[in-house]
Amino acid sequence: MSKIRAAITAVHAWVPETKLTNADLETMVDTNDEWIQSRTGIKERRILKGEGQGTSEIGMHAVNGLLKKRGIKADEIDLLICATTTPDMQFPATANIISDKVGAINAFSYDINAACSGFLYAVATGSKFIESGQYKKVVIVGADKMSSIIDYSDRATCIIFGDGGGAILLEPNETGAGIIDSILKSDGSGRQFLHQKAGGSVKPATHQTVDAKEHYVYQEGQTVFKFAVKGMADVSAEIMERNNLTAADVAWLVPHQANKRIIDATANRMGVGPEKVMLNIERYGNTTNGTLPLCLWEYEPQLKKGDNIILAAFGGGFTWGAIYLKWAY
Ligand code: UT7
Repeated sequence: MSKIRAAITAVHAWVPETKLTNADLETMVDTNDEWIQSRTGIKERRILKGEGQGTSEIGMHAVNGLLKKRGIKADEIDLLICATTTPDMQFPATANIISDKVGAINAFSYDINAACSGFLYAVATGSKFIESGQYKKVVIVGADKMSSIIDYSDRATCIIFGDGGGAILLEPNETGAGIIDSILKSDGSGRQFLHQKAGGSVKPATHQTVDAKEHYVYQEGQTVFKFAVKGMADVSAEIMERNNLTAADVAWLVPHQANKRIIDATANRMGVGPEKVMLNIERYGNTTNGTLPLCLWEYEPQLKKGDNIILAAFGGGFTWGAIYLKWAY
């Protein structure tokens, strides 16, 4: 019997309707469309509005669409993992809430927090449950309501992030398609450059932390940028090398959408042309855990069975990594 691999058998994503354009941001902070586009590649992002609407809302819509597409019922899901940095609550896990909302009554579920690399980590983790032979249907959600932790008076961060996310279904495949390899890395010493200062156990919420705006994303952009360029390019090149893939063998690069310049640097290092790079940062910005499934969802009609695909990400932690998979449908 050939090896059981975890193959993606469906993908779906969801973004809220409300748009926040560069022109809108020009009225909020000292910035301009030209600066944002040339430095990041972003034109607009989506914002989830409405009371009581958190990350699970995004995940719920994505999973409901996924199940409909694959033609299966929620009670068939064995495991649901949600990668998020903006959970509905500190606890329980947003995955538990999504499972409840979609009716995945037979699934066990938990969250993974690895900032922008969370979706990669979750796919790598979820695939092991399939490869073990113990589980048949594993859903991976990557979703964030970044607007809940963004200071819209800080021009260094508010121009980058948006809300949205998606979900994939992993199922066993014995034809050679599916997740083939992964390289995952982390270095917690990078936490000083990208983090949220308060709201955790070190610094619980107080009036002072709120007044000091410590519940928002803090980022030293230039430093993160340098680490991101190197980290994402290094792992992408490494995963190609150790799987004997040339640029011609790679059908698609699916990069985390944090900054178009980081994406270009990764593609250059791999030697793949822009026609092979999934890109939608201009419309959604950086949705953190949502970027990779949003790309797969939008490009799904162009994917062919057997395509060699490299997913790559870099984010807070620092965390970074790459996954090599063969498309299954
Ligand atoms: O997804 C998780 C990981 N995160 C990332 O990968 C993000 C990595 N970092 C970045 O993408 C970039 O560093 C940013 C997009 C955040 C910033 O771009 P940059 O090219 O690194 O800009 P900078 O911070 O070096 O700032 C350059 C100039 C500064 O002005 P001076 O000192 O040269 O006069 C800033 O004050 O641009 C100014 N600036 C802005 N100007 C207009 C900073 N933000 C803005 C803004 N609009 N929004």
